Amino acid sequence: MTKTLVLDELLHGGDYNPDQWLDHPEILQKDLSLMTKAGVNTVSLGIFAWSALEPSEGVYQFDWLDQIFDHFEARGGHVILATPSGAKPAWLAQKYPEVLRVDGYDHRLHFGERHNHCPTSPVYRRFVADIDNRLAERYGQRKGLLLWHISNEFGGECHCDLCQAAFRQWLQDKYGSLEALNAAWYTSFWNHRFSDWQEVASPSPLGDSTLNGLNADWRQFVSDQTIDFYDQEVAAIRAGGSQAPATTNFMSDTADLMPFHGLDYAKFAKHVDVVSWDSYPEWANPNIPTPELGMKIAMINDYFRSLKHQNFLIMESSPSLVNWHSVNRAKRPGQHRLAAMQQLSTGADSVLYFQWRQSRGASEKFHGAVVAQDGSEDNRVFKEVVQVGQDLQRLHDLAGVQRPRAHVAIVYDWQSQWNLDGAQAYAQETKRYWQTLQKHYRYFWQHDIPVDIITPDTELAPYQVVIDLMHYSLPAGYVTKLTEFVQAGGLLVGSYISGLSDYQDLAFLGEMPLGQLYGIQRKEIDTYYPQNHNGIEYLGHTYPVKDYAEVIAPTTATVLGKYTEDFYADTAALTENRVGSGRAYYLAGRANAAFIEALYNRILEGLRLAQQQVTVPTEVVSVALRPMKDGQQLAFVMNFSDSEQGVDLLKGGTDLLSGDVVSKGHHTLPKYGVLALRIE
Ligand code: GLA
Ligand code: ZN
Repeated sequence: MTKTLVLDELLHGGDYNPDQWLDHPEILQKDLSLMTKAGVNTVSLGIFAWSALEPSEGVYQFDWLDQIFDHFEARGGHVILATPSGAKPAWLAQKYPEVLRVDGYDHRLHFGERHNHCPTSPVYRRFVADIDNRLAERYGQRKGLLLWHISNEFGGECHCDLCQAAFRQWLQDKYGSLEALNAAWYTSFWNHRFSDWQEVASPSPLGDSTLNGLNADWRQFVSDQTIDFYDQEVAAIRAGGSQAPATTNFMSDTADLMPFHGLDYAKFAKHVDVVSWDSYPEWANPNIPTPELGMKIAMINDYFRSLKHQNFLIMESSPSLVNWHSVNRAKRPGQHRLAAMQQLSTGADSVLYFQWRQSRGASEKFHGAVVAQDGSEDNRVFKEVVQVGQDLQRLHDLAGVQRPRAHVAIVYDWQSQWNLDGAQAYAQETKRYWQTLQKHYRYFWQHDIPVDIITPDTELAPYQVVIDLMHYSLPAGYVTKLTEFVQAGGLLVGSYISGLSDYQDLAFLGEMPLGQLYGIQRKEIDTYYPQNHNGIEYLGHTYPVKDYAEVIAPTTATVLGKYTEDFYADTAALTENRVGSGRAYYLAGRANAAFIEALYNRILEGLRLAQQQVTVPTEVVSVALRPMKDGQQLAFVMNFSDSEQGVDLLKGGTDLLSGDVVSKGHHTLPKYGVLALRIE
C-alpha cells in the first residue's frame, strides 16, 4: 500500500554523517548552530552507518543515533532515515562470503567499496532485514521521522550461483517450458538450443553476451531482483512497526543526464512511495552551454516527476563541485540558486545536498559540501546555501502542491532502450535514443511548453501530443493503443528506427506494425558515416540529415518533406497521415534543431499547449509554472545564459524571492538570475 509523503514545508538539508565525527563532540554542536543559520530543516542519516550501528555480529550501539535524533527533533526538524544496506560491514563479508557479489568473469569480489552486495543471498537479506527491523522498532514512531531512505543508489548485478538459480526460476515462471524459451530467444541460431534449465546462465563475456533475448530477460531479472530486495527491506521496516513512507535514490548519467541505464525505473517507481534522485549536472563545464544544461536538467526532472505523476525529491546535489567529474569545477556564483529554483520549478519539493559537512578522510574529502573542512561561515558556498535556505522559506506555499499533467508527452521505453543498445545494427556511436528525445524536448523547453516523459504503459488520454521517436522494440498491444489515441484526435510524431522488434527483440515479420498508423511502408534503413549527409526539403528550406535515413513508401500518408540526395532523392522523408480525427507524422531521417523548430511550429499550430504565457519565450530564459497552496500560479523565470538578459513580461506579479512588485513589460535579469513571480 502506497504511503503518502505529507509536507508542510520544502525540504532543505541533506546527507549528514555524524558517525564520522563521534570523536569530535564540538563539531556536532557546531553543526546544529550552522544548520540553523543555513535554514536546514532535514537531514538524511545513517546511509552507510551499519558498522557504527552493529560493530560486530549481534552487538548494537544506537546511542549516537538516538542523540542526533533528539537534537534534531528538538529543533522541529525532519529526519530521512536510511537503511544501511548500501555498504556491508567487513565482519559480515568475512564470515559469510556469499554476500559478496560475483562478476561476469566468475570472480567473487573482495570486501571493499560499496553498492556491491549480492541481491539474492538469503544471508544478506536476513542480516539486512534484522538491522532494518531494529531501526524501525527504535525510530519508527519518532515524530521527527519523515521518510525511509532504503539503501543507496541501487545498481549493478551479481552472477553468483544463487543469482543464477534465481534467474532460472524467474525464466521458468515467465516461459513455463524450455520450448517457449528456445523460441523466444531464437536459439536455433548458432546452435544454442537448451535442453535442460541448468544449461541456462546469465550473459557474460565468458559465455553469451550477444544473445538478444537472453540479454532482454537478464536486464528485467536484474531489475526485478533489485526491486524485490527493496521490497523486502520495506517489509522489514513495516514489521518493525513503522508506517512512514519509503523511497530510494535514483540516478542519472553525467554527460547527458539520461536516467541510469541499469534498472527499469518505470517499474521500480511503482514500488516507492515517492520518487527521489541524485542530481549532479556539470555546471560551469565550458563544453556544455548553460542553456543546454538547463534544458537537460529540466528534461530529466520531468522524467522523474512523470514516473509517478507526482512531485519528487532531489535527494542529493552538490552546493558547488563534486570530486568524480573529469574536471571538478566550482559552480559559479548564482548557479546554485538557479539550480535550486529550477528543481522546484519542475516539481521537486526539496533541495538536499551530498553532504552537509566535508569528510576529513577517504575518497570524498574534496567533494563539495555545505560546510567545508575549515568549518567557516565566511565562505561563498555556505553563504549561497544560506540564501537558498531563505528562498525556500519564502516559497513554502509550494510544498506538496502537485504540478498538473502536461499536454505534451514524450515516450521513453526502458526495454526498447536496452534492446536497441544491444542490437548489432546501425552505428553504435549514433543511436543515442535519449539524446534524440532531448533534441525534440528542447523545442518545448525553449517555448516554455510543459512536457511529461512517459512510459508505454501510461494512459494517453490526458495528452494532445505524443512524441514517440526511435521506439525500436514495441510491447504487446502498443500499436492499438497509439492508434486509438490518434483516432480520438491526438497528434502523434514518430521516427526512423521504430517498431522493428518485440520486447524479446524478435524482429516483426511482414509489414511493419506501425505502417498502417503512419500510412507508410519501410523499405530500407540507411546508416551514415560521419561524413555522409542528405537533406530534407520542407516548406521551401533544405535541412541537413545526418546519421539515419529510412527509405519509405507512403500508402495513405501525404508527403510533407522529401530527401534531396542519393538514390532515394525526391522520395518521402516526412509524412502526415490522417487517422480518425487525429494526425500521425513520420520523420524518416535524423534532422537538426532548425528542422525540428520548423516542424513543430507548423504541426502544433492552433493547439493550446502552453501554460499561461508569462514572457515572450527566448532560447535562454526558461519559464515554468507551479501552483501554490491557494491555487495561485508561481512562475519561475530563470536566466540560463552566462550574461544579463532582457525579458518581456506579459504579466505582472510579486517576486516572492525579493518581495518586490514586478510590473509587466521589459525587465533585465542578471546572469543566472531568477524571479519567482506570484502572478496577479
Ligand atoms: C552518490 C552517493 C553519495 C556520494 C555522492 C557523491 O550520489 O549516493 O554517497 O558518493 O554520490 O557525489
Ligand atoms: Zn548473487
